[in-house]
Amino acid sequence: MVNVYEAAGRLYDALSGEHVVYRAGRQSGVALLNLRAGDTVLDLGCGTGLNHALLVDAVGPSGTVVGLDRSPKMLEMAHRRVETNGWTRVCLIKADATTFDLNEVAKELPVPSNGLVDAVFSSYAMSVFDDWHPAWDRMRALLKPGGHAGIVDMQLPVGRARIFSPLVRLAASVGGADLHARPWTVIQREGVDVRSASLRGGHIQVVAATIP
Ligand SMILES: C[S@@+](CC[C@H](N)C(=O)[O-])C[C@H]1O[C@@H](n2cnc3c(N)ncnc32)[C@H](O)[C@@H]1O
Repeated sequence: MVNVYEAAGRLYDALSGEHVVYRAGRQSGVALLNLRAGDTVLDLGCGTGLNHALLVDAVGPSGTVVGLDRSPKMLEMAHRRVETNGWTRVCLIKADATTFDLNEVAKELPVPSNGLVDAVFSSYAMSVFDDWHPAWDRMRALLKPGGHAGIVDMQLPVGRARIFSPLVRLAASVGGADLHARPWTVIQREGVDVRSASLRGGHIQVVAATIP
């Protein structure tokens, strides 16, 4: 089967509906993540790095952003974004989010994280994973106790916005997203001090919380 992200890495930013639809979700997700200056944050399924400017701003010059994705083409674009912006504290890891070896990835995390990060984040990616549960297990294992987790993902719109459902179904089928995956529910179940937002007619769900 063709991997759409390998085939369209270069075109992803232009074709993904970023400005009209999806940017609002990542802005809200990063805001609700409550990052502090100096934090290390892991962005799972980071793609071309569309979250990275927001995350770099939130953690400041002493913080670190770690992006992880399995697609070399998407990571190539993310690397280009790092170079263009001159970010020295963004590190990119090529790995499968659902199967990676925790010790291997922990070793690649930059000092001073000691194998654990202050926050984990994922946007529009977990619904694309074959199964997001093992990815969540890994996010949790790499998160320090009391750290923050945030998930931004998609479902079918609700209420009057249901008129856009055919368009959403088409986009999800092109991107390989499961609109019934609902990965954010794990944060609602396992987190405390849960923060959430529902955007674009309920199509975009944003949930963040502290994970004890
Ligand atoms: C829709 S894109 C989202 C990218 C980015 N998070 C964003 O908000 O623009 C989904 C990303 O998930 C990645 N992906 C899919 N399955 C993966 C897996 N098992 N492990 C790691 N990355 C994966 C794809 O390569 C792609 O970059």
